[in-house]
Amino acid sequence: MKGVVLAGGTGSRLFPLTRVTNKHLLPIYDKPMIFYPLQTLADAGIRDILLVTGGHSAGDFLRLLGNGKDFNLRHLSYAYQEGEGGIADALRLAEHFAEGHSICVALGDNILEMNITQGCQEFERTGHGAHIFLKEVPHPERFGVPVFEGDRIVRIEEKPKQPKSNFAVTGFYVYDTTVFEKIRTLRPSGRGELEITDLNNYYLAEGSLRHSVLDGWWTDAGTFESLLLANNLVAKGGANKAGAQRATAKTKNASKE
Ligand code: DAU
Repeated sequence: MKGVVLAGGTGSRLFPLTRVTNKHLLPIYDKPMIFYPLQTLADAGIRDILLVTGGHSAGDFLRLLGNGKDFNLRHLSYAYQEGEGGIADALRLAEHFAEGHSICVALGDNILEMNITQGCQEFERTGHGAHIFLKEVPHPERFGVPVFEGDRIVRIEEKPKQPKSNFAVTGFYVYDTTVFEKIRTLRPSGRGELEITDLNNYYLAEGSLRHSVLDGWWTDAGTFESLLLANNLVAKGGANKAGAQRATAKTKNASKE
C-alpha cells in the first residue's frame, strides 16, 4: 500500500496566518502540522508517500521534508495542485504515483492521538473497496457525517445543517485501485469542488465501503478554534501514539457484499 498526504488548498479560513505560508507548515506545538499525518501513515507501515501541495510555499515542503528520511520513508514524492478544486481533485494527481497499488490517504490538517494501523490491516485482508475512519464529535455539522441504519452506513452527508449522527468522517481513507476511475465520474459540488464525500458515497453505493471508529482524540486544524485545540491536545499528551485500537471495527456497511 502506498500513501498520499493532501496539503493543497489556500487555507483561507486561517487568514491572515496563511496569507504568506501554507497552512500545513504552521506549528502544532513543537512540529509543523504536516508532520502529524505523515507520521500516521509511516506508523501504519507505509514507506512510499506522495505529498500533494498547492498555493503558497510549495518549495518549503521540499526543504522541510526532503526525501522523508525523518519518517523512515523509502521515498517521498511531490505533486502540485493548481487552484483549489477540492480534495478529490487533489487526489486525482496521485494516479500516476499509485501505479496499481491501493492507497491510504491523509488530509494534511488531520491529527490523531493514536493510529490507523488496524483499519489499514483490515483493508489489506481483502484489498478491495474503501475504508473510512469515524470519530464521535460534539459538532458534526463541520464535517462529512454518516447516516446510519442500525450499524450500517446508508449515506454520507457533507457538512449537513442537521446532522443525522454524532460521527464525523475523519480525513483518513483507504482506497483500492478503482479510485481514480471513480474520481473521473465526479462532478463539482455547489461550492465548485470535487468532494471526497461523493467519492465515499460512490463506494457505498457499490457496497464496498467499510468503516471503523478511531480510538483516542482526533481533530483537524483548519480553523482558529481547531488549530488552538490541536496545539493544546498535542502539548498535553502528544500525538501518534502506538498501541492497539479497541476492537470497534465495524465491517461491511452494505448488504450487497
Ligand atoms: O477533516 C475532515 C473533513 O475534511 C471531512 O469530515 C470532510 O468530509 C472533508 O470534506 C474535509 O472537510 P474540510 O472542509 O475540513 O476540508 P478542507 O477544505 O479544510 O481541506 C482539508 C485538507 O484537504 C486540507 O488541509 C488540504 C486538502 N485539500 C483541500 C482542498 C479543498 C487539498 O489538498 N486540495 C483542495 O483543493
